[in-house]
Amino acid sequence: MAFKVGILGLGTVGTGTVQLLLDPTGRQALLKEVEVYKVGVKSPDKTRAVSLPTAVVTTDLEAIVKDPAVDIVVELIGGLEPARSLILQAINNGKHVVTANKAVIARFGDEIFTAANAAGVYVMLEAAVGGGIPVIQPLKQSLSVNRITAVTGIVNGTTNYILTAMRDRGSDFAEVLAEAQQLGYAEADPTADVDGLDAADKIAILASLAFGGRIKLQDVYCEGIRNVSKADINYAEKLGFVIKLLAIAKKAHSSNSLSLRVHPTLVPQSHPLASINGVYNAILVEGEPLGQVMFFGPGAGAGATASAVVSDILAIAATLKTGTTKPHPLMSCSHQEYCEKAPMEDLVTRFYARFLTQDHPGVIGKLGTCFGNCGVSLESVVQTGIHDNLAEIVVVTHDVREGDFNASLAEIRALPAISSIASLLRVL
Ligand code: NDP
Ligand code: HSE
Repeated sequence: MAFKVGILGLGTVGTGTVQLLLDPTGRQALLKEVEVYKVGVKSPDKTRAVSLPTAVVTTDLEAIVKDPAVDIVVELIGGLEPARSLILQAINNGKHVVTANKAVIARFGDEIFTAANAAGVYVMLEAAVGGGIPVIQPLKQSLSVNRITAVTGIVNGTTNYILTAMRDRGSDFAEVLAEAQQLGYAEADPTADVDGLDAADKIAILASLAFGGRIKLQDVYCEGIRNVSKADINYAEKLGFVIKLLAIAKKAHSSNSLSLRVHPTLVPQSHPLASINGVYNAILVEGEPLGQVMFFGPGAGAGATASAVVSDILAIAATLKTGTTKPHPLMSCSHQEYCEKAPMEDLVTRFYARFLTQDHPGVIGKLGTCFGNCGVSLESVVQTGIHDNLAEIVVVTHDVREGDFNASLAEIRALPAISSIASLLRVL
C-alpha cells in the first residue's frame, strides 16, 4: 500500500471512515492504495461495528501521531483536548492531517495552520462543516475567484432535525434531541448543538474561507434553539415562515466589516433554505460575479461524514502521488489578518415579536406608538386569542436597525399593560 493512515477515534465518524476505506471497489481507484494502518480508541474492549485486526487498534494515540510509517493522521475523536495536541504533534512529526473537528479548528485554527505551513503539510477539514456536503474545497477552489458577499447556512443537523420534528410531528424538544443522539448526529455534549455553538464554530470556518481572513470565535453572535416554542413554530407557519437555526456571515453595506451570527430565524416559506429539513444542511453562498449557489446534503451521520473525510484523505494522497514537495496553494490556508466585526446593534433586519398583554382597549395602539417613537415600521400585527386572561399579540416589523428595535422594546417593557415579551426572533 502506498499511503498509511492513522485514524484517531472509532466512533460514529471513525467507524464510517474505516468502513469506506475497507470497501474501495467501485470507488476512485486511488482508494485501493490507502491502508488503515492504525486506529486509536479510548476503550479497546468496546463492541465495534467494524472488525479490525488487534494489531491495528491501540489506545496509544501519541504513538500513532509519532509513528514514522504514518503518512496521514485522521483526527476523529472530537473535543478540544487531546485533539488539539495530537493534531499539533502530528504536524510537527511531518504528517498531513484530516479532521472533522470544527471546535478545534474554530478555536485553534491560527496555531494549527501556522504550524502546518511551517512544516509544509496539509490540514484538511471538509467534514468539519456540513457533514457530507462538499463546501470547504469549493470555497477554497471553485468559488475563490468570486467576491463573496454572504454565506447563509443551516449547518447543524441536530437542531434542524429537532426543529423539523417539532413542526411536522409536534414532538417535544427533549424527545427529539434523544432521537438525534441515538442516530449519531449530536455532539458528545449536545449543548454545543442546541445552544448554537457548533453552528458558530462552523460559520467562523466558512467565513474565514469565504472572506479570506481569520475570525475570532467571540465575534460570532450566538443564540440557540432552546427558547423556540411550539407556539412560535405555529405562528411562523400561519404568517408564511418556517423557523430555522441560521448561521450567517455577511459583508456590511457601508464597510468591509462582517456581520457574524447564529440564531433561530423566521425564513419565508418560498426561500430555498426553508425546505431543508431533518438532518439535512444547506449553505447558500452569494458572490460576484457568480450570484447565488446553494450546497445541499446530509449534514451529519456516519456514512455522509465519512465521505467528506475520505475525500480529504484522497486529495492528500493524490497530491503526494505527484511527488511534489511544494504545498498546493488551493489546498493550504495562509490567512494572516483578522476580519473586522460589525456590531449587532447596526444589523438591519426584520423582527418577529410575541407579546403577552392585558386585554385592554388601546394596547395595540400603545405598542404601535413605542415602535413609532423609535422609527420601527410594522409589517403585520396579529392578535389571535386569550390565554390565561392575557392577550397574545404577534408583530412582524419591516427592516429596522437592531439598536432601534431594542430601544422600542425598552419602552414597551415599561408599559403597564405588557405582561411579558414571550419571544423575539429575527426574520430573514
Ligand atoms: P464519537 O463520540 O462517536 O467518537 C469519538 C471516538 O473517539 C470514539 O471512538 C472514542 O473512543 C475516541 N476517543 C475520544 N476521546 C478519546 C481519547 N481521549 N483517547 C482515545 N480515543 C478517544 O464522535 P463522532 O464520531 O460523532 O465525532 C467525531 C468528530 O467528528 C467530532 O469532532 C465531531 O464534531 C465531528 N463530526 C461528527 C459528525 C457526526 O455526524 N457525528 C458529523 C461531522 C463532524 P471509544 O470508542 O473507545 O470511546
Ligand atoms: N453535531 C453536528 C450536527 C455534527 O448535528 O450538525 C455534524 O457536524
